[in-house]
Amino acid sequence: MEASYTRLVQWFRESSPFIHAHRGRTFVVHVGGEMLTEPNAAALVHDLALLSGLGIRIVLVPGARPQIEQRLTARGAAIEYVNGLRVTDTEALACVRDAVGSVRLELEALFSMGLANSPMAGLRLQVASGNFVTARPLGVRDGVDYQHTGEVRRVDAAAIAARLDDGAMVLVSPLGVSPTGEQFNLYAEDVAVAVAGVLQADKLLFLHEGEGLVDDQGEALRELTLEQGEALLAHEPAPTNTARPVTAQLARALEACRRGVPRVHLLPRAHDGVLLAELFTRDGVGTLITPKAFEQLRGARGDDVSGILALTAPLEADGTLITRTRERLETEIEDFTVMEREGTVVACAALHPLPECDVAELACLVVHPDYRDGKRGWRLLERLERQARAAGCKRLVVLTTRASHWFQEQGFVAAGIDDLPASRQALYNLARGSKVLMKTLA
Ligand SMILES: CC(C)(COP(=O)(O)OP(=O)(O)OC[C@H]1O[C@@H](n2cnc3c(N)ncnc32)[C@H](O)[C@@H]1OP(=O)(O)O)[C@@H](O)C(=O)NCCC(=O)NCCS
Repeated sequence: MEASYTRLVQWFRESSPFIHAHRGRTFVVHVGGEMLTEPNAAALVHDLALLSGLGIRIVLVPGARPQIEQRLTARGAAIEYVNGLRVTDTEALACVRDAVGSVRLELEALFSMGLANSPMAGLRLQVASGNFVTARPLGVRDGVDYQHTGEVRRVDAAAIAARLDDGAMVLVSPLGVSPTGEQFNLYAEDVAVAVAGVLQADKLLFLHEGEGLVDDQGEALRELTLEQGEALLAHEPAPTNTARPVTAQLARALEACRRGVPRVHLLPRAHDGVLLAELFTRDGVGTLITPKAFEQLRGARGDDVSGILALTAPLEADGTLITRTRERLETEIEDFTVMEREGTVVACAALHPLPECDVAELACLVVHPDYRDGKRGWRLLERLERQARAAGCKRLVVLTTRASHWFQEQGFVAAGIDDLPASRQALYNLARGSKVLMKTLA
């Protein structure tokens, strides 16, 4: 009991930076109709409701493929696929309308549950749906008339945003209407990409069937840039919409990145709690695809102060670093560089100019324990060295109690207190006994 209590408290505290980072953000989530055919459907609904309860603006785009196929089978019919694209004839369209409608109603019912002692107790979640998507026919291609299969023509971003502003979760179905009043069967994945693009969503999350992406050695691929994703797809056989392998999702993910969605996640739907694990733990469980490199090294801003304090506090407590108050950090924030990963600060360092203008002090170089040994310390140092050179500095000085060898391996040499610039000597804290190291900048 005691251990699980401690674990819960620890987990809750560790997830708090993510809770803050995600609040008010817009996430578009695509999930196939398969989720409703399985007993754990309610668990995923509860997790989505929890995200909404935490202030995340959720747009859910559910597919309805198994439900459509079930209806077609009952009529002794089947959807025909030509060149990997489905042909929706009049009979199939009737099944699509029926299936999409029933998926929507079923989800609305699940989101409306609020039994005492259930995860939904006390939550009054509004689910808004509507005619947000305008479609056009796929038309005739290579002599094949795709009939009622359509593609997204326009998404009414303002209408969706208005519902989100009202605090509702928005449900967008893969059925679009053309200005002529006809209905078209759309790929839910394409709808999700279009919605995420026009809303400029902060994240698009694809909950895919089956296993995730792996590299040549069979290791899970955790991060991909747009460029790496394109290279990966170039070596894959063309993804078919019928088989729906995760690579088909990857193609959609890359399209979303091109449309300006900064983070697209591919997550295995069958893993229980996959959304929470991805969004509230440091490393997540799926593949994250970003237009650019995933970790960003940048100058610190005022809103990084809390992140830096969270990083330095344990090291201040054990004496590795000197104590910096929030006020001091706020004043010195412009000297700091941070490494940001998924909205959280995972490393930082400061470069303080000294009155003797040919020397600067490097301080507060910290990499979060979970991210050490990945050359992050080295990358930070390299950046600060460039910064120092650009400012005309000839030497860097650092005072450290525990990392003198690390600095020596980066080209620093041991020096004495007397070697410190006069301004810094005056402030040297003898009681700490820090080692002084210097590096001449080439
Ligand atoms: C020192 C620190 C910034 C290095 O960050 P990092 O991203 O892990 O460093 P890199 O990946 O560039 O280097 C890792 C190598 O340095 C070694 N290393 C890490 N910390 C070390 C230390 N205190 N002393 C000696 N070597 C160290 C690692 O063992 C690893 O060696 P390996 O390649 O042989 O396996 C990080 O360990 C840290 O935050 N330490 C606590 C804060 C601190 O003391 N900061 C300095 C005060 S200004």
